Amino acid sequence: MSDKIIVTGGAGYIGSHTVVELVQAGYEPIIIDNFANAEKSAIHGIQQIVGKEIKLYEGDCNDYSFVRDMLKKEGAIAGIIHFAAYKAVGESVRKPLQYYKNNIGSLLVLLDLMLEFKISKLVFSSSCTVYGQPDELPVTELTPKKPAESPYGNTKQISEEIIEDVVKSPLPIKGIALRYFNPIGAHPSAKIGELPLGVPNNLVPYVTQTASGKLEKITIFGDDYNTIDGTCIRDYIHVVDLARAHVSAIQYLESKNETSLFDLFNVGTGQGNSVLEVIKTFEEVTGLKLNYTIGPRRPGDVEKVYADVSKANRLLHWKTIFTLADALKDAWRWQQTLG
Ligand code: WQD
Repeated sequence: MSDKIIVTGGAGYIGSHTVVELVQAGYEPIIIDNFANAEKSAIHGIQQIVGKEIKLYEGDCNDYSFVRDMLKKEGAIAGIIHFAAYKAVGESVRKPLQYYKNNIGSLLVLLDLMLEFKISKLVFSSSCTVYGQPDELPVTELTPKKPAESPYGNTKQISEEIIEDVVKSPLPIKGIALRYFNPIGAHPSAKIGELPLGVPNNLVPYVTQTASGKLEKITIFGDDYNTIDGTCIRDYIHVVDLARAHVSAIQYLESKNETSLFDLFNVGTGQGNSVLEVIKTFEEVTGLKLNYTIGPRRPGDVEKVYADVSKANRLLHWKTIFTLADALKDAWRWQQTLG
């Protein structure tokens, strides 16, 4: 009987890839998803990859009785990986209350029920956005957090603090926050990937949709930054590498005998690449020419951020294996399945 892991938002981009890796590591993932930012096709894609049914509870993590009924039904749960959250930075500025209610509310429901059902392990989806524009690079987990630049980023900072406070109280919870850098790419099978609903905000879906002709061109938001080619630098991590970090985090918590602990880890490649380098690498791996222009800077963009990942390497025994080229190749293969 495999250990059951609840994956909230398990039909989403990172969630679906993590569900695949959990099965392949011998766990039984159980998905909770309300499909606010995911499609049922992701469940089908996961099942095609792993060759087995994945249990799904369709509903909202903010719905206390829904989550409680599910936990009563499922019995012993080894841990929870909590992805379910709204994550559009710009939208969070326009709709802050929705973001605080949804992102913080769902965490509070889960923590409450973890205590009632004696579920001790929680892995939380956080973000490098907590660092803002760091004063020093690469960022380590000790790099001071900056005031959040958006309600979305603030929900991640507040959530980390809530988990840490609950762990510090005499309540038996072991929590890990994973601070993602920039997740990109898709499963090499091209059966699951990023489903940007509507016009994408993020760079790589913009690149692949321009390459497919769905979008006319890419606008590079500023080339007058103090970087190698004037465009912003980010740490782009293959989504399968990122997914595997969640399995390593669960295994790390299983290995710790403390009844309470909280820790956080940067999850990136440790390598920074500029926007132009991403575009050039995409052109190299696909042989396509991308239509792009230089536009004005995007408000809120940080100039340069990339991770020091030595702590995750050392303590989680985890490291990335995919390159930027691999991720862009997989992103393009996925885009071609979308037409
Ligand atoms: C990357 C770079 C843009 C689109 C966001 C969130 C962060 C996390 C990851 C959730 C930037 C440039 C982009 C385009 C461009 N999400 N760009 N033209 O902003 O680093 O991070 O997604 O956790 O919280 O903030 O990612 O992909 O939007 O931008 O020039 O059409 O690409 O200016 O330099 P970002 P991104």
